[in-house]
Amino acid sequence: MSTRNKLQKFAELLELPHVFENFSYENPELVGQYGKVVDLKSRWKNEHFGNLNPMILELACGRGEYTVALAEQYPDSNFIGVDIKGARIWQGARQVSDKNLRNAAFLRTKIELLDRFFASEEVDEIWITFPDPFLKDSKSTRRLTSPFFLEIYRKVLKPGGIVHLKTDSPILFDFTMEVISSDERCRLIYSSEDIYARALDFEELHIQTYYEAKNISGSGVSKYIRFAING
Ligand SMILES: C[S@@+](CC[C@H](N)C(=O)[O-])C[C@H]1O[C@@H](n2cnc3c(N)ncnc32)[C@H](O)[C@@H]1O
Repeated sequence: MSTRNKLQKFAELLELPHVFENFSYENPELVGQYGKVVDLKSRWKNEHFGNLNPMILELACGRGEYTVALAEQYPDSNFIGVDIKGARIWQGARQVSDKNLRNAAFLRTKIELLDRFFASEEVDEIWITFPDPFLKDSKSTRRLTSPFFLEIYRKVLKPGGIVHLKTDSPILFDFTMEVISSDERCRLIYSSEDIYARALDFEELHIQTYYEAKNISGSGVSKYIRFAING
């Protein structure tokens, strides 16, 4: 366990070539290594990753377990973990350095601002890993699979782009299934209310995040929904 405090972690993030941060919601500017201002919208593949491989986001990535593990597992795709909390991103960003992964990056910003940093159709898939479920109905618009957020994803996902939700919250699972069934542009591809009840249908589901391991909901049961949001 590191003894670095938050300020040390924030300073280290600025030294990493695969971490980009937006410090002001009023200014759509991205700051990269050593504080250099960069514009990567529509240029992530060419200018940052140096390839034309598919690009997959992990939203609410926290420490970025999916970003790191998927990047190792799929070297021919690019992965970007997105979260607002720098001290959490730092954990995954350090691993990307240690493992010398060229196909993984982190973006520190609010998910609400995604289309400032990604162009239309620039993103192939989105993973949402154990997001806050916002249990009260009055806060349901803040859930990351609410219609409000799906509209944001539509702005950056390619047509037919896929969204993966992994959660242990029955409320978020049911809510998401309802959102999908009441939106004619959504198409459910797969769902499971207990992915570990039998052999995994998708190998990626074995990746455990920090919050999954913490079992905050107390259900101890991980659920998964895969759906397309445009077609
Ligand atoms: C419950 S944690 C899950 C973290 C990680 N995926 C895991 O499973 O361990 C939710 C994460 O979402 C991030 N988050 C919540 N709302 C956000 C938003 N609007 N924009 C960016 N990050 C957000 C928080 O900072 C936090 O790290």
